[in-house]
Amino acid sequence: MSWKVTNNERSQDQLLVNESLFALGNGFLGVRGNVEEGYGEGMISIRGTYINAYHDETPIEYGEKLHAFPETQQKLVNGIDAQTIYISVNGERFSMSAGTIHSFERTLHMDKGQLIRNVDWESPSGIRMKLMFSRFVSMTTKELFMQQVEIEPEEEADIVITAEVNGSVTNFSDPGDPRVASGHAERLHVTDCRAEGRSLLVTDETYETKLEMHVHSMSEVSAPADRTTEIKDGRAAEHYSLKTGERIVFTRWNVFTDTYRHGESLQERAENIIRKCGSFDEEAAKQQAYLTRFWEEAGLKIEGDDSLQQGLRFHLYHLLQSAGKDGVSNIPAKGLSGEGYEGHYFWDTEIYMLPFFQMTQPEIALQLIKYRYSLLGAAKDRAREVGHEKGALFPWRTITGGECSAFFPAGTAQYHISADIAYSFIQYYLVTGDISFVDEYMLEVLTEVSRLWMDMGHYKGGTFRIDDVTGPDEYTCIVNNNYYTNVMARHSLQWAVKSWELIGGDAATAWKEKLQLEEGELAAWQEAADRMYLPYNEEHGIHAQDDTFLQKKVWDLENTPDEKFPLLLNYHPLTLYRYQVCKQADTVLGHFLLEEGVDEEVMRRSYDYYEKVTTHDSSLSYCIFSMMAARLGDTEKAYDYFIKTARLDIDNTHKNTKDGLHLANMGGTWLALVYGFAGLRVDENGLRFRPVLPKAWESMAFRIRYQGRFLEVELGQDQITYRLLDGEDLSIDHFETSVTVQAGKEVHASYQT
Ligand code: BGC
Repeated sequence: MSWKVTNNERSQDQLLVNESLFALGNGFLGVRGNVEEGYGEGMISIRGTYINAYHDETPIEYGEKLHAFPETQQKLVNGIDAQTIYISVNGERFSMSAGTIHSFERTLHMDKGQLIRNVDWESPSGIRMKLMFSRFVSMTTKELFMQQVEIEPEEEADIVITAEVNGSVTNFSDPGDPRVASGHAERLHVTDCRAEGRSLLVTDETYETKLEMHVHSMSEVSAPADRTTEIKDGRAAEHYSLKTGERIVFTRWNVFTDTYRHGESLQERAENIIRKCGSFDEEAAKQQAYLTRFWEEAGLKIEGDDSLQQGLRFHLYHLLQSAGKDGVSNIPAKGLSGEGYEGHYFWDTEIYMLPFFQMTQPEIALQLIKYRYSLLGAAKDRAREVGHEKGALFPWRTITGGECSAFFPAGTAQYHISADIAYSFIQYYLVTGDISFVDEYMLEVLTEVSRLWMDMGHYKGGTFRIDDVTGPDEYTCIVNNNYYTNVMARHSLQWAVKSWELIGGDAATAWKEKLQLEEGELAAWQEAADRMYLPYNEEHGIHAQDDTFLQKKVWDLENTPDEKFPLLLNYHPLTLYRYQVCKQADTVLGHFLLEEGVDEEVMRRSYDYYEKVTTHDSSLSYCIFSMMAARLGDTEKAYDYFIKTARLDIDNTHKNTKDGLHLANMGGTWLALVYGFAGLRVDENGLRFRPVLPKAWESMAFRIRYQGRFLEVELGQDQITYRLLDGEDLSIDHFETSVTVQAGKEVHASYQT
């Protein structure tokens, strides 16, 4: 069962949630899990097809627009809809809300990468037929979305199959929820719509960005049928009519191309791609082979809890489906499963999702990093716009590099994103050991990020301070010396200096000239790092979230009614800012990422303190609390938080899964397993593990790649096994001792009591 996710509920609410849960994608193309024939009258559906980074721009309307507020916002566009297939029997159209459903099942198969819906249906006038709808978005031909319907009538009947490509689509909007875009729903228009030979062809263009998107759709029926076509209102349709009492199979190939990836010849490119596609079975076999490899590489196993195993697989599956793999796109906060957060990329990628890719799919990780690197120019421009003479300020949310946040206190003010990006580059280097990466990408990014800190920070009382920023916790905004920001800034400054040392020689000389490194710049970064101010509160014995957090009144969470959560939808931001109340992990996250030099007791007290004032209104919070509980030895608490991450979307606990999945939380579940329970940390000394196993599990295992090695780690009841599947001998730290594993061999180690 853990390879499958099934949900047969058909209430209005669950239908919308299922559209997200059953979304299919490959990082380029995403298709929500809408049903082919649509729902009955009066039902709401968020029907969506998205191409990663395919966007339009809309003006941001401010009541009062101040200097350097972004003028436009990018928005992922709901693109051409090629999902629709209608089936009529003796003139009655199949629908889940007409006639009688004798049985129904809808299942996502994560081992073969297909969504399958089986229905045993009886039409209102009593004709019964079995239908099986299968679909997948290909992992091997990124432009391809395949559909197949098997139709088995019980008696001879007139059957009409209609396949449609609809170019007249709009985005979804909900003015009542700031997390779903409001207004500006119509973002593209049809420029070409026709039937030609065996194909339906539709091309659309966005209004402002003038980006084109094209669909080339072809289909076939397994029995002789009359085919007619129809073009109307931006829709191209084909109808197949036949009389049969036998099982017939309808197969459909939809190929999507866009300006970004296919340039100006997007129609020609689509035609060439579709010509090379194999049969449904051939393409499905390639899909399965791709996924078999993916699962082998992740090597994920939890013995003793099938539903968690399922939840975990579901998360890794969606991570794979959502990650841009072409260097011009990234991972939207909701993946390609919905329009929440408008398809924007946030720090979610670097801190929550990249580790999974770095350690299991390094090629995809490199593409994600290259995408960020490609924004460096825009980040430098943005820094100037905001008033910095030097450095790069990465946008809080964006698609192509422009800042898209209209609310600067919880947007642009989150300067930590620049440090998070630096952190991810450093981690990539540590995991791969690739010095050419430092030369090609890391040195430049870290240099520009360090220049930003130098430009905005200042010395006071002998310490280096960073004022007026917002940390990860969005319920506390525009503060001085946010602990998380300062500790992350210190790390990026230290590593900027190290990067210059690492590349040295001629490469450093060339970079010096290119980046116009000034005399004394490196020394200044080192000094700022050494003297970075990290607020500490003696009374509580903890690091303060910022200079004033601990002076505020504590929010009475216990007596806040359930319906008031998430607080952001029920209280004015200023009310929230005036209290000690956190949306998500902030200081605790700082301790998780960078614990060096922090006393374990301080981390423990911080954990206990901040846990009491955290609402976890952000889905990015639980996994951090899970990992830190594991780190501090509270395995049961770690487990409780872990459960909350593992089923957040499947059980719709945040109540907004309909707008799309919570991708950062999905990455966070893997983190909680590998960095939490197995206690992995990667630093200059190599890999370190501090494993603990929750009582509820018999064992758990995963695989990671590290500097050319392929390592399997298994946490059993009594012992831990490190197995080197490939690569040169590797020494790792297991708690405080060093163990060496050799290729093809395993080493056993014990838990710490
Ligand atoms: C969180 C941010 C996050 C964003 C996108 C917000 O609710 O507070 O930390 O980056 O969602 O997932």
